[in-house]
Amino acid sequence: MWFIRFVTSSIGKKLIMGTTGLLLFLFLCTHAAGNATIYMSSEVFQSYADELHSHPLIVMVFSLVIFVLFVVHAGLGIFLFLENRRDPGCRYAVNTRVVSNSLASRTMPYSGLFILLFVLVHVFGFTFGPEHVPISETVKVMLSGFFYGLFYIISFIILAIHLSHGFWSMLQTFGLNHPRYNVLIARLTYILPAFFLLLFGGIPLYFMSGAGASF
Ligand code: HEM
Repeated sequence: MWFIRFVTSSIGKKLIMGTTGLLLFLFLCTHAAGNATIYMSSEVFQSYADELHSHPLIVMVFSLVIFVLFVVHAGLGIFLFLENRRDPGCRYAVNTRVVSNSLASRTMPYSGLFILLFVLVHVFGFTFGPEHVPISETVKVMLSGFFYGLFYIISFIILAIHLSHGFWSMLQTFGLNHPRYNVLIARLTYILPAFFLLLFGGIPLYFMSGAGASF
């Protein structure tokens, strides 16, 4: 069947990795925008979370889509990593000579696995966290803890490294490679991960440093 042939072909796998990566990236943008309300006040963040949860069907479908995207992206990533280890000759073409030596490109499977671990810890802590406690309180209590906050900061550094290669690789997959745009693309591969690192990483720092004590 054409679908099986597509999924098992090298270009098919690459397109699936690129498309799921792009959708996860878009999720990260919406999540960053929602979490940015933490910098305003606990009331603003709480009312954002309450508004979100006043649409349970949308939240359920959204969560399901995110879950499937994570499973496909991580599952295929692990499969490709194992396939490449078994037979380095059939290496699927995410790496070109230009980037194959960069730290980010060489560590993609490891940074990906770490992010998966982070997401599991994160979802169990927040989405399935204590009931009858406002989410703004849960976020404050958890991220004020030294080790939990440190784990978050380390995770965001690793996420930034993963994104810096993943974003570039995704654009190559979709054919965005033109001398006119390559300088801009090269800059974006640093600017976007740095932006996420500052926005997400600032949150545990805000609570750990005591600046968010009155949150
Ligand atoms: C300090 C930074 C972050 C904060 C404060 C934060 C906060 C939250 C909160 C409060 C929820 C639960 C939402 C709810 O059910 O009410 C949540 C869910 C989630 N977060 Fe984060 N988050 C952060 C960073 C991240 C990052 C970097 C990722 C991805 C790598 C991520 C992935 C997720 C996922 C997958 C869910 C579950 C979404 C769903 O099921 O709809 N989060 N986050």
